[in-house]
Amino acid sequence: MAQSNVFPPSPEFVKRARVQGMEGYRALYRRAAEKPEEFWGELAEKELFFFQKWSHVFEWHPPFAKWFAGGKTNVAYNCLDRHLATHRKNKVAILWEGEPGDQRLISYQELHRLVCRFANVLKARGLKTGDRAIIYMGMVPELPIAMLACARLGITHSVVFGGFSAEALKTRIQDLEAQIVIAADGAWRRGREVRLKDAVDEALPDCPSVRDVVVLERTGGAVHMKDGRDHWWHELDEGVSEHCPAEPLDSEHPLFALYTSGTTGKPKGIVHTTAGYLIHVHMTVQWVFDLREEDTFWCSADIGWVTGHSYIVYGPLSNGATSVMYEGSPDYPQPDRMWRLIEKHRVNILYTSPTAIRAFIRHGDQWPNAHDMSSLRLLGSVGEPINPAAWEWYYKTIGKERCPIVDTWWQTETGGMMIAPMPGAVPLKPGSGTLPMPGVVADVVDLEGQPAPANREGFLIVRRPWPGIARTIWRDPERYRQQYWERIPGVYMTGDAARRDEDGYYWILGRVDDVMNVSGHRLSTMELESALVRHPAVAEAAVVGKPHEITGQAVACFVTLKKGDWNHDELAEDLRKWVAHEIGSFAKPEQIRFTDALPKTRSGKIMRRLLREIVTSNAVTGDVTTLEDLSVVTRLASQHDEE
Ligand code: PRX
Repeated sequence: MAQSNVFPPSPEFVKRARVQGMEGYRALYRRAAEKPEEFWGELAEKELFFFQKWSHVFEWHPPFAKWFAGGKTNVAYNCLDRHLATHRKNKVAILWEGEPGDQRLISYQELHRLVCRFANVLKARGLKTGDRAIIYMGMVPELPIAMLACARLGITHSVVFGGFSAEALKTRIQDLEAQIVIAADGAWRRGREVRLKDAVDEALPDCPSVRDVVVLERTGGAVHMKDGRDHWWHELDEGVSEHCPAEPLDSEHPLFALYTSGTTGKPKGIVHTTAGYLIHVHMTVQWVFDLREEDTFWCSADIGWVTGHSYIVYGPLSNGATSVMYEGSPDYPQPDRMWRLIEKHRVNILYTSPTAIRAFIRHGDQWPNAHDMSSLRLLGSVGEPINPAAWEWYYKTIGKERCPIVDTWWQTETGGMMIAPMPGAVPLKPGSGTLPMPGVVADVVDLEGQPAPANREGFLIVRRPWPGIARTIWRDPERYRQQYWERIPGVYMTGDAARRDEDGYYWILGRVDDVMNVSGHRLSTMELESALVRHPAVAEAAVVGKPHEITGQAVACFVTLKKGDWNHDELAEDLRKWVAHEIGSFAKPEQIRFTDALPKTRSGKIMRRLLREIVTSNAVTGDVTTLEDLSVVTRLASQHDEE
């Protein structure tokens, strides 16, 4: 499918859409650009509940932004309480299915009750506004319940993806100085138990800030409970009051810190606050998913990543949607688990990743074709560029050429979608995220900040803060400034390369920094390198992303060894296990090459650019590489490095 193919919205779709036609999109975009404070102020007034109105919609002390300053609100109140006096009271808020096939349908009223109870449990442990909680669970309803209970009280939460190891968990707990860890005994994944509580036990001896651990019983596996520190969720929950008023919190109160990989060995805690984040995710659900009251909405991400925060929990619930949550692996017990779920629950909107789509293509069309998925009306993609073959398959085999595909570009730091089509307005071009959201003043520029001509690649930037922008890095505002705002002074640097075509459509080309994107998960080369050199056999390590047919990129390592008599095959296996221990199994290297020396510049910097070329030219795999245009990214990345 050529990149020039254009898919305008069908007249039937437009007729019922929230934003209709390009005029509809342009009017919103123009008003947000010309009068941002009025635009966002009016939306917040109409769409959200505030205990106290703000004094200023926007305050800007570069690089630190405030939205709705002086206002008081509460995210959990907006996601729950406000629906209870409406027809949504008994509507399903969370439609959950466990991997073994168990099912829970939780109404707004019931979710409110469960959240209030758990908030009271947290209060009884002495937690209060301003404290921090680490949440380390699988995809069970108690995960959003814990998040919303924290939000209700003003406890800043940090969800750690269940695939992270004890070591990764530990560094996050330490950085956040969390008082409590909310965990589960385990989680189901491909029929096996992921033993989460064991990892908590391994992490905690080095985490003096943690007073309490609350453990949800999910798998029933044997766990060790430490006296005085560890408590079962169901025991603490006994006899607890169902009444717990939501705290009126400052608009800029930190809702969560989510750790993501940067260009150093240390992950950064991206901080999102309350009112601005909420209006951003709330509106993008309406604009991009074109959400209707009767929709069943499924974002198949894990809540451990930002996509799950914004588009399973906060965005859908603040809109009163029915949000589907599935615990396990999409191919378990068979490769049609996802299609089975769509058929069974009559899902209308599916939001997933190109990696998942490529894996489904490999399983074969017989799996989706065996299911009636005619309930679907809209498809979404996120996390990495979608290659033409995956787009076409998603469009034809899953959407039956009826469902628009919204390809949404955004980042942990942006809070919500930034470049994405409004499906009843913007014609689609496969592989392009299309046009920016209202309030997003994006551009493609050179290193001097000068706009690139049409179709010329450059750095993707945003010129002005938008409501959902990350406010800082947890306890490291200086790193926030340097990382995002200093390279080109006064503009937000995304770290991605892009080009804009003659219609103003954005095409994302990939990262220009030392960050990889494996299965839509961000991994830092430096973080992996520091993990590798902690291994006793390793002298030096260089890590680069290698194109991969399914996961987009895979981890490739070049390693030099300390003196010794090493068996390379055994050592490679040992290093893979080591990375799983230090970071998590999802970060395991696909390729490890032992070498005598690493290519370096005269100043001693490892020339990752060369290594990237080596792993790339060795394994050219069709679609993925053509879309990513690696030579461009490599060139831009070296400019970026040398500046
Ligand atoms: O390189 C871009 C890629 O994923 C990065 C952000 O990763 P993360 O913070 O983990 O958030 C992922 C989910 C929002 C971006 O810098 N990326 C994300 N979405 C797309 C994408 N690349 C191309 N097209 C997308 N739709």
